Amino acid sequence: MWWRRSRRSGAVTVLEDPPVGGYGAAATPAPDAPLRVRPAAPADAQDLLRWRNDPLARAMSRNQAPILEEAHSAWYTAACRDPDSMLLIGCVGERPVGMVRFDRRPPSAWEASILLAPQARGRGLGRPLLESALGRLEALRGPTVVLAQVRDSNTASIRLFESLGFVRCGSDLGFLRYRRPGAE
Ligand SMILES: CC(C)(COP(=O)(O)OP(=O)(O)OC[C@H]1O[C@@H](n2cnc3c(N)ncnc32)[C@H](O)[C@@H]1OP(=O)(O)O)[C@@H](O)C(=O)NCCC(=O)NCCS
Repeated sequence: MWWRRSRRSGAVTVLEDPPVGGYGAAATPAPDAPLRVRPAAPADAQDLLRWRNDPLARAMSRNQAPILEEAHSAWYTAACRDPDSMLLIGCVGERPVGMVRFDRRPPSAWEASILLAPQARGRGLGRPLLESALGRLEALRGPTVVLAQVRDSNTASIRLFESLGFVRCGSDLGFLRYRRPGAE
């Protein structure tokens, strides 16, 4: 069973069964299972490769070419070890549903990017995922400026970032630049 919780009323709507193969983990969450974030682990690498190679994810990226497994593995291993990168996986129950990455932008800001599993999109999960990830970043680093770049046609992402206090501060080659105030 899959579900969506209305932001306004809090009501839960049961949706169709998850796809064959699921989202990458076996357990079915209870309808009221909260979304939580945890650090990415080696076992998340394949889920992440699938999500990154989904056509919408490629279309919304600067580099739209498909990502090869070997390149992904090297990138993933390096990103998990990099102290200037924070890779978080959002889970509903035990099921991984998406990723938020923060990359340090010297001297003191971090840049966010977000990616939901294709089947988890359009269900209001992006906001709690990004909100939880920002909470984790702030808990570890204190209140900090967070930046984002969003393709100008990516309405869902624009609405998501703006709903969490990101303010448009520029544009560049089809991408809007966003900034969320925090301590410099
Ligand atoms: C961007 C992403 C994380 C958003 O996920 P999501 O929360 O499931 O997004 P939703 O479809 O619920 O849309 C978010 C909001 O935009 C609105 N929206 C979505 N598409 C829209 C459209 N075409 N026109 C108008 N509004 C739209 C939704 O109604 C929702 O509004 P609400 O918050 O007021 O209810 C997800 O789509 C994703 O992973 N996309 C691929 C990767 C990507 O683009 N990442 C961002 C790179 S910066």
